[in-house]
Parts: sequence; C-alpha cells; structure tokens
Amino acid sequence: MTSKMWGGRFSTGPAAIMEEINVSVGFDHRLAKQDVRGSRAHCSMLVAQGIISKEDGEAIQGGLTRVEKEVAEKSFHFKRRLEDVHMNIESRLADLIGEPAGRLHTARSRNDQVATDFRMWVRAALENIDEELMKLQSVLIDKAEAHAGTIMPGFTHLQVAQPVTFGHHLLAYVEMVGRDRGRFVDARKRLNECPLGAGAIAGTSFPIDRHMTAEKLDFDRPMANSMDAVSDRDFALEFLAAGSILATHLSRMAEEMVLWCSSQFGFIRFTDAFSTGSSMMPQKRNPDAAELVRGKAGRIFGALTTLLTVMKGLPLTYSKDMQEDKEAVFGAFDTLELCIAAMMGMVLDMQPDPARMSAAAAGGGFAVATDLADWLTAKLSIPFRESHHITGRVVKVAEQKGCTLAELSLSDMQEIEPRITQAVFSVLTAEASAASRTSFGGTAPANVRAQVAAARERFLKVMP
Ligand code: ARG
Repeated sequence: MTSKMWGGRFSTGPAAIMEEINVSVGFDHRLAKQDVRGSRAHCSMLVAQGIISKEDGEAIQGGLTRVEKEVAEKSFHFKRRLEDVHMNIESRLADLIGEPAGRLHTARSRNDQVATDFRMWVRAALENIDEELMKLQSVLIDKAEAHAGTIMPGFTHLQVAQPVTFGHHLLAYVEMVGRDRGRFVDARKRLNECPLGAGAIAGTSFPIDRHMTAEKLDFDRPMANSMDAVSDRDFALEFLAAGSILATHLSRMAEEMVLWCSSQFGFIRFTDAFSTGSSMMPQKRNPDAAELVRGKAGRIFGALTTLLTVMKGLPLTYSKDMQEDKEAVFGAFDTLELCIAAMMGMVLDMQPDPARMSAAAAGGGFAVATDLADWLTAKLSIPFRESHHITGRVVKVAEQKGCTLAELSLSDMQEIEPRITQAVFSVLTAEASAASRTSFGGTAPANVRAQVAAARERFLKVMP
C-alpha cells in the first residue's frame, strides 16, 4: 500500500525496515495537543484569508474538536503505518469529515508544522520546569530559615575551612537554581517566534497571514526567515543546555547529601521514606535517590550531546535527522522533572544533626585559625600577612600539645606574640566565627535571615 500523504509518485509501500527507521509516532504522539492547536490556528487563518471556505473551515474545526477529545481521553488510536503524529491526526480527520480534511494542509508543510508544534511543547516544558524549580527554591528557603543559626563546617578541597551556617549553605543552592530559572526564561524569549507559514522551506504563494497564526498560538511574532524557521532547533538545544547546567547543580546537591548522610559525616539523616537497605548488610541506610539524581545527570548531558551532534553537519534546511530532536528533549524533560521532584522530597525529608555539624565545624579546633589572624590584624594592627604567619605558629604549638586553639593558655599565645590578650578567646569558637561574618553575602545567622526574606521576594514568583 502506498502512503496516502506522500504516495502520489510511489508505486509500492515502504519496506518494513524503512518503516521501522522512519516511524516517529511512538514518541511524537506527545505533540498531539500542540498539533491540533496549530492546525486550528492555521485553519482559522485560511478561512480569514479566503483561502478555504467558511464551511470547510467549520468542518475541519469540528473534526479537530473530536480529535482533541480522543487525544485527551487517550482513545485516539495512533498507527505506526501513518509514520508520525501529524499524519495520524490528518488521517483521522479525513475519516471523520472526509474531503475538507484534505484542505487543511494548504500552504503548510510538515516542516513548519513540526517546528511549530515542537516549539509550543518546549515552551510549555520550560514553564513547567520553572514552576517546579520555584517550589524547590521554596523548600530550600524554608529549610534555610529553620537552620539560619545551625553551625556546620564549610569546606574547600573537602577540607574543613571555616565555620558556616547550614542555612547559608542551602541558600547557595537557591542562588544556583535562580540562575537556572534565568536561563530557562531567556531561552523562552528567543524560542517564542512562530515558524508556521514557512511552508517546506521557501514560504508560500497563498496569501497567508503569519502574524495572525503567530498571535493565535501565543508567539511574539512570526519567524523572519522561512529557511531558518524550518531548520532551526536552537530552542531545543538551549533547553538541553540550560537543563544540563541544572542537572549539574542537582547532581552537586545530591553528592553533598550522599556525603552528609554517611556515617563519617553524620550531618543529616534521611527517614525510611528516602533510605534503602542493603540486601546483605543489615546496618546500611543507602541514599539511593540522591545517588540516582547524581547519576541521571548523565542522561541530560547525553541528550545535549545527541542533538548537538545531530545538528552540527546539517545543511539548510530540514533533514530527517532532525526527527531525532524529540526523544532527546522528551527524555531530558522527564528526567529533569523526576530529579527535581526527588530533590524536593529529599530536602523536605532530611533531618540535620546540629550537634554533629557543629562538632565537625570546630575542625579539630583549627577552623577558627582565620579568626585568630583577623583578630591580630583588627585589634593589634598587625599586617594580615604577618598575622597569618603568627597564627601558623600558634596552630603548630596547639598541634604539638594535641589541643584546640581555644584550649591553649594565654601564655602559650603570648610566647609567640606578647601583645595578645585574654579577649582573643572570644573569637575562637565556631559560633563566634560564623556570627562575625556579617559582610554582604556572608554566613552570619543574621545575614541568613535577611537573605531568606530577600530570596522569597526575588524568587517565589513564576516566569514573567
Ligand atoms: N516526523 C517529522 C519530524 O519529526 C515531521 C517532519 C517531516 N518532514 C519531512 N519533510 N519528511 O521531523
């Protein structure tokens, strides 16, 4: 059997293997809603421009209403034989209304059709992810508020560096996610031009109104160049690029959770809801969800690499290679949604252990070394480089004595720098250290509380 849609000059049907490699309806059925919407707009425009009759237009809209309903109710029967979502819907329309169905494709090609459908799909995906990310920020901000004063060690090189607050640490992720949302917002702006009416490549001789269809489909304007319109997939690449950075952030967050809930750190504990057992070792409580968020980042990067590779050698304009765009984007979207939801669940679930955190924050007593050096500079006007050197000698003495800086006697310190007074001991606790970091963006509990309020103002609203 030859294809009804492009079968005019073909005498035999496609070889089975041809059908196998060509068929996309197994995944592009996810564009059905957008396809109907695009067709409705196109049909209204064809009527308004006098290109098809009002009666045919009404028949088409009526048929599309039926199709829409069948799609929504999941009773629409997609056929592999009909290749893709576009031909499935058009064929169903023909079954439903007969001859007028054949007029819908006037002044349209599947090339501008699929580009339009897919743009609308990605646009909705961007909005969806933005909303999910806002919710993730919201739970992070709430946790940060609850732990504005919880002291933990801050790390550089995964070595204890300086005491910080857990709230401050969580707000770092709120900022990262905020930038992710910014990238999705930017991508949406560039995405929002309408390819419909570009035809196969060159435009059309019919007197279409591309501004009308663009407006009906909530695009800002029609795309300016018909060749670009059918061959551009930047919007999908930008979605995957922004998604890859987001996946990196989620993975880093997940990695920290894996570290924090280990018995070596013991900073947080997951309830049974987010812990899995080992089939052999009864004592284990494994953070599988965090590990999977970390692991699934690979899929997102893979999707970006897939589409970059598909696009990099394509001459203008459309080539069938581009059909490969959809699975990459659909898969990345599903994975991102799942990872964001899992991360949100873990943030809500994790139970911090402030005692373990603050004990570790002491860093064996040396995490406040910078505070000692700062004190020497601030109180004794010693140049910081010299203060750093003096502090190094104090640390060495404490190491030799096997005690913390705060456990040294005043005379131990005065042997190294005679001007040191008893007052120095007030800065040698992790709490005092964190509380003193009041510079803008610093870790002090008071700052964290102010940043929590500011973050709620800045972030708890959806994409403009
Ligand atoms: N299923 C196709 C795709 O996703 C639709 C466009 C087909 N265009 C064509 N000229 N064969 O790319």
